[in-house]
Amino acid sequence: GAPVKVNIGKVEAGQQMVAEWRGQPVFIVRRTEEILANLGKLEGSVADPESAASVQPEYVDKKTRSIKPEILVLVGLCTHLGCAPSFRPEVAPADLGADWVGGYFCPCHGSRYDLAGRVYKAQPAPLNLPVPPYTYESDDVIIVG
Ligand code: FES
Repeated sequence: GAPVKVNIGKVEAGQQMVAEWRGQPVFIVRRTEEILANLGKLEGSVADPESAASVQPEYVDKKTRSIKPEILVLVGLCTHLGCAPSFRPEVAPADLGADWVGGYFCPCHGSRYDLAGRVYKAQPAPLNLPVPPYTYESDDVIIVG
């Protein structure tokens, strides 16, 4: 498939947009300082904190899984059986529990991921959500693929 140009300029802090690349959903999140601070605290809770076994381009930072920390780009398919995880950025919602600090929740079999797409330990999903190849054309435009 051809690379896809995505304007991310309208994604607000703490929010997600969904693009499409090669027939797959691509999740793009503008992360806040709080979200980024939480990632550091979750390293003991996630199965592959530095994505050693997971899929991401070499040029993304291992900890934030991104080129620029504030912008997260993920392939939005659960690594268990390919459902689309739900974006659940809120803290401690009733259905996800007091420990939830925001992330992705897969409705199919309950896999939980943080806001770097890192899967928590002991979930049905074995790996982090993949980071697709992408580049910045400008601050507001990325090219996926
Ligand atoms: Fe996501 Fe099974 S497909 S948990």
